[in-house]
Amino acid sequence: MKPVVLAGGSGSRLWPKSRAALPKQFLSLTSDLTMLQDTIARLDGAKAEQPIVICNEAHRFLVAEQLRQQDVAHGGILLEPMGRNTAPAIALAALHASLDGEDPTLLILAADHLISDAPAFHAAIEHAEVLAEQGKLVTFGIVPDSAHTGYGYIQRGSNVSGVDIGFDVASFVEKPNLATAQNYVDSGKYYWNSGMFMFKASRYLQELEKYNPEMLVICKKAIASESKDLEFVRVDADTFVHCPDDSIDYAVMEKTDSACVVPLDAGWSDVGSWSSLWETAKQKDANNNVIIGDAILDGVSNSYINSEQRLISVVGLDDVVVVETKDAVLVASKDKVQDIKNVVNKLKAEK
Ligand code: GDD
Ligand code: MG
Repeated sequence: MKPVVLAGGSGSRLWPKSRAALPKQFLSLTSDLTMLQDTIARLDGAKAEQPIVICNEAHRFLVAEQLRQQDVAHGGILLEPMGRNTAPAIALAALHASLDGEDPTLLILAADHLISDAPAFHAAIEHAEVLAEQGKLVTFGIVPDSAHTGYGYIQRGSNVSGVDIGFDVASFVEKPNLATAQNYVDSGKYYWNSGMFMFKASRYLQELEKYNPEMLVICKKAIASESKDLEFVRVDADTFVHCPDDSIDYAVMEKTDSACVVPLDAGWSDVGSWSSLWETAKQKDANNNVIIGDAILDGVSNSYINSEQRLISVVGLDDVVVVETKDAVLVASKDKVQDIKNVVNKLKAEK
């Protein structure tokens, strides 16, 4: 199995730490390693080949340096001249990995997730591999604990015939509205999509051809003239610029009849916001606060405080997030942290 690590996202909900020049996946948020490094480190023991990392051209040196720090032998750093979301990124990786006539089984990983139980993760990967070899497009399903609208929802069908390690997908709905998500959670029949996938390269490309032929044609053309420069692999920018922008979830997973789901109970979090960092933190003080860096709190509870340079002082507040960096300070209500992306959009509009 060949891992493909998707490292091209922007992570805007973790502003002001996560920036265009240094997005979430390149930060050390949950351990001493960066999230990208953690993603690769947890493959240790999973019988994986050398991973391909796919990222934006702008981040190539960051990725190369982070892999070097970890002494990781990798299978190439594939560079996208511009972001076109995950469906084309995975298509480029699948085409690149098949260039020598092979049809590898790909494990698609997000570069910005936390998985605390690596052995449980490895067991799920082994199950997924059996199903991927049968031609399935395998998802990893998380039992939901809330009606989160930032996730895909996978309706569990019957057992995949002949094996009891996964279920056919009855339906896949990407980012439903709140009422729909709540119905799904209440029904007990749905998983969250973890955003990791496993399939034969050829099966993904066949499904893409069926549902998004234009995207496949452009990706094939862009990779046909790929060029190597040290460890970097570049595709043709003048071609790729015309590629439709879409995620694998909408472009393929909502439409395919070949999806199945392997349940994953491995302490997964997509660390999507400051509140999820508060939730998953191993260390909290007696008042349930997470404190990173220099801070003095008085009468504060259930809060996340992260100081990079200056002393933070908070008095008499509950459920807040305060993040201080060299050039920006965030103060937010902990239940509104999803809206931080609006701040980022406003900042972009002002530029
Ligand atoms: N190379 C590359 N190029 N990577 C990308 C691009 C791109 O254009 N866009 C996003 N990524 C990477 C991100 O860095 C992340 O690792 C992964 O692909 C998923 O992208 P997100 O933008 O974080 O997706 P999401 O969180 O909104 O939704 C996905 O993940 C959820 C779970 O965290 C979907 O798969 C949902 O269905 C799922 O529930
Ligand atoms: Mg995400």
